Amino acid sequence: PDKGLKDYYRDYFPVGVAVGPQSLQGEEAALIKAQFSSVTPENAMKMGPIHPEENRYYWQDADAIVNFAQANKLRVRGHALLWHEQTPAWLFKDAQGKPVSKEVLLKRLQDHITTVVNRYKGKVYAWDVVNEAIADNPQEFLRDTEWYRICGEDFLVKAFEYAHAADPQAVLFYNDYNTERPEKRERIYRLLKKLKDAKVPVHGVGLQGHWSLQEPTEAELRKAIEQYASLGLQVQITELDVSIYPWEKARRAKRPGESDAYTPALEQQQAAQYKMFFRVFRDYKQVLTGVTFWNVSDKYSWLDTYPVAGRKNYPLLFDQNMKPKKAFQEVVTF
Ligand code: XIL
Repeated sequence: PDKGLKDYYRDYFPVGVAVGPQSLQGEEAALIKAQFSSVTPENAMKMGPIHPEENRYYWQDADAIVNFAQANKLRVRGHALLWHEQTPAWLFKDAQGKPVSKEVLLKRLQDHITTVVNRYKGKVYAWDVVNEAIADNPQEFLRDTEWYRICGEDFLVKAFEYAHAADPQAVLFYNDYNTERPEKRERIYRLLKKLKDAKVPVHGVGLQGHWSLQEPTEAELRKAIEQYASLGLQVQITELDVSIYPWEKARRAKRPGESDAYTPALEQQQAAQYKMFFRVFRDYKQVLTGVTFWNVSDKYSWLDTYPVAGRKNYPLLFDQNMKPKKAFQEVVTF
């Protein structure tokens, strides 16, 4: 049988993919087993899906993914213990519908993290503990969310402490997007330095890697990896996809007259971009401890429908028929 990504990269890092319960059978499951050495639940371990009501957890989907991983000797990256999206409304409200106090919210956070991390202890080797806490606006620092409004900065520290207490072996990550854009990089660095200086148990930074043909540049990518690693943190690429559209365009509806053709020229440019990214990843194998793709093939990518149904982005290494693309060849040739 042909070698898979995981075999080409055996001496470098695990190569992972985001999956849902629907990925665990048929063609998609076969491709996952042949190509990857790690999985991340795309949605199943997020707070909303896994903890829809205060006293009810919904384990079925996450369990199915973890069982599939164990049966096929795949690692599992857990995602995500604290985020501002896909978070259940009950968390922030008391029985009268009024906002809860900081004490109540932190207690709920502790219960949530302890329960989820405990259940998958020894099966999930790494967790995205806090996802996307830095604001988009360069003038701001932390994102304005209910977590921040109710708890101030403490929610961050506490989330890592609760996760570490529940599973001292798990590798704990701060995860975010546009982590290579210089101004956001500086703010993320500042946050992580503060956490490290305060001896908070954070072990790695996840660069989501929702990238394009334009960014990041090689220099920006190297600078980001080096700057985060200088704090003694591991770096993982946690949600890699390379859209054929720039960031803003991929996130708005298609306008009349705009082409959405996946031309040979675009496929070629994308292959070159992937080649550069993986060359850089290999260069940093001492600190770069994992690369995970966000979805399996161009047949289904979250980018095509989120935040609005726009156009197809063709962002992955496998095409709509799950066959390897030019970019695949570039990634495995070195
Ligand atoms: C996305 C999923 O892929 C979608 O299915 C869901 O509708 C929204 O969330 N950053 C993250 C991921 O950290 O959790 C997001 O996943 C993509 C952006």
